[in-house]
Amino acid sequence: MRVLGVETSCDECSVAVVEDGARILGQIIATQIDQHGPYGGVVPEIASRTHTEWISGVYTRALQEAGVAASELDGIAVTTRPGLSGSLVVGLSFAKGLAFGLGIPLIGVDHVLAHLYAPQLEQEVEYPFLGLLVSGGHTIIARVSDPFTMQVMGTTIDDACGEAFDKVAKHLNLGYPGGVAIDRLASEGDSRAFNFPDPSLHKGDHRYDVSYSGLKTAVVNQLDQFWNREFEKNNANIAASFQKAAVELLLKRLYRAAEDSGLRRVVAGGGVAANSYLRRSLAEHPELDAVYPSLELCTDNGAMVAGLAYHHLRRGDRDDLTLDVSARVAGFRKTYP
Ligand code: KG4
Ligand code: ZN
Repeated sequence: MRVLGVETSCDECSVAVVEDGARILGQIIATQIDQHGPYGGVVPEIASRTHTEWISGVYTRALQEAGVAASELDGIAVTTRPGLSGSLVVGLSFAKGLAFGLGIPLIGVDHVLAHLYAPQLEQEVEYPFLGLLVSGGHTIIARVSDPFTMQVMGTTIDDACGEAFDKVAKHLNLGYPGGVAIDRLASEGDSRAFNFPDPSLHKGDHRYDVSYSGLKTAVVNQLDQFWNREFEKNNANIAASFQKAAVELLLKRLYRAAEDSGLRRVVAGGGVAANSYLRRSLAEHPELDAVYPSLELCTDNGAMVAGLAYHHLRRGDRDDLTLDVSARVAGFRKTYP
């Protein structure tokens, strides 16, 4: 079964063709980083307008790369939630037009579940596992029991993890997106230079939740308060100390979730899963086994959408032309979707 996946939930415009939920026949990922860079973050209006301009060309190139004609497709999949409404609508409208025109099934897919499906496109990962999705828009620790079902254990109560990296990077004038720049700069710094706080939310209902706004404020407004004066107050030391604090507060919750759930396999996804400190720390954990998709499949892409959709279509799920988008992020709600 050949499924075409459309992903336009944020600032990547991507279309892919995937066979049987496992083999990527062709994929185009057009990133809008240059469009949003000057603003230091994604501008929703610009994102949706750019998707409108690009989607048709991205589709044509994806089919060309796959060597597949539109008439050979068996289904059209599209991300419908969560994400920027205006951007989601562009992908959805395009997908509806295709499905209607070709007379083949249409299926809307959840973006978070698609991220957690991504590694299956490169290797078979057994369920259940702990999902760790950390990007500019998501911070989720979840128990994932099959491709369609997850229970959110923890999330952020304010900023997303990648958002915190981006805001600190902006403060240090490192450009956008800032995660990679912080990661690089941190390798030249000493993480002992600043002892940043980890706000204690870990009681009761918030056992696995994180908060990044306090850490961001500490870096931006209260730096001296946390400065260990044996070290220089420079950007590399700030980056290293921030990165360590940001990742460790996340991993602390992840390890707690692993212990409580008994799950030992962790599937990571989202842009922050590329972070070198995070990968090193997880690898050093004696009991956990971490699986990462390649960098291309870690960030937003159409293949993860098409891959997950294959399973939806196989079990008979279908959407019709009344399908709509939803911006909602899991947030505090612990049941999902
Ligand atoms: O998954 P993604 O490409 O887009 C979405 O947000 O959906 O993730 C982008 C985020 C940005 O916030 C970026 O700064 C962060 O991932 N990021 C990183 C690294 N690479 C990307 N954060 C920390 N370390 C990295 N190496
Ligand atoms: Zn994403």
